[in-house]
Amino acid sequence: MRKKVSIVGAGQVGATTAQRIFEKQYADVVLIDIVEGLPQGKALDMLESGPVVGSDAQVIGTNDYKDTANSDIVVITSGVARKPGMSRDDLLFTNMKIMDSVTSEIVKYSPETIIIVVTNPLDAMAQRVYQSSGLPREKVIGQSGVLDTARFRTFLAQELNVSIRDIQAYVLGGHGDTMVPVLGYTTVGGVPVSELISEKRLGEIIKRTQDGGAEIVSLLKTGSAYYAPSAGVAEMVDSIILNQHRILPCAAYLTGEYGINNLYVGVPVKIGSSGIEEIIQINLSNEEQAMLNASADAVQELIDVMSKQ
Ligand code: APR
Repeated sequence: MRKKVSIVGAGQVGATTAQRIFEKQYADVVLIDIVEGLPQGKALDMLESGPVVGSDAQVIGTNDYKDTANSDIVVITSGVARKPGMSRDDLLFTNMKIMDSVTSEIVKYSPETIIIVVTNPLDAMAQRVYQSSGLPREKVIGQSGVLDTARFRTFLAQELNVSIRDIQAYVLGGHGDTMVPVLGYTTVGGVPVSELISEKRLGEIIKRTQDGGAEIVSLLKTGSAYYAPSAGVAEMVDSIILNQHRILPCAAYLTGEYGINNLYVGVPVKIGSSGIEEIIQINLSNEEQAMLNASADAVQELIDVMSKQ
């Protein structure tokens, strides 16, 4: 029997994620949204692509959480996206309420599931879902580091005119302006990036990575990124469904790792069929650790604001 992946939110990120997973065939997909007809229409359209793309997987659209019952993974993309001039934090209260309502429905029908949170502001939303789901921390994972790292790798590959496959990098911390590219672990064909690109130019590339989401928002004007975010989710889903034990930068609930307590922050984690198998602790320079602390403080501020609501 195929695995089951449900995706909450049939908007840009949700539908693109559904398509990527449907085409892999290892799981049947349920797309759910509050808007009637939207998930049904997109799912039927996707299903009808099956004969052409060669997928025998099933994909259905629904407005009823009963259809998500016994999901192996639920991906949460529901919520509002940014408009030009907005920061991810501007979405806080609206998306917080949406997290609360969708999480209770998810765990009611899939009490054993693994949840991947994509909705922004990512780290705060992951924390909200973790707290309201009652699931262990291994089973609530935030997607952002894979995306931020993908952006960083893209810009480095362009800069050096090399294959993206030969660029290894980590972008840690919160999914926001305070994210932390870790240069000590960023290599091109095994060569440390700082030997290949000047400090000044690296600084510009890091800045573009940190502003990567805003760059897309200002171009699109009516929405935010979805191709790269959905690719990031699909890589995490692969590692869980296929038990790949990939080491990926993801938002995880830290209980002392990196000196950070009781907070979702992006760090390297090993992911397999049970969710997070291990939080990997890499050595950070003093400056990187200070940046990570500042990033954690920014996440904590949002958590504090939410708790006063
Ligand atoms: N339950 C289910 N679906 C909901 C709910 C809810 N309570 N509230 C909103 N939605 C749905 C909307 O109807 C819409 O179809 O969530 C979908 C969001 O889709 P888009 O507006 O296209 O947003 P998208 O670009 O997919 O981004 C979603 O992911 O990357 C983040 O910042 C982004 O927080 C945003 C989220």
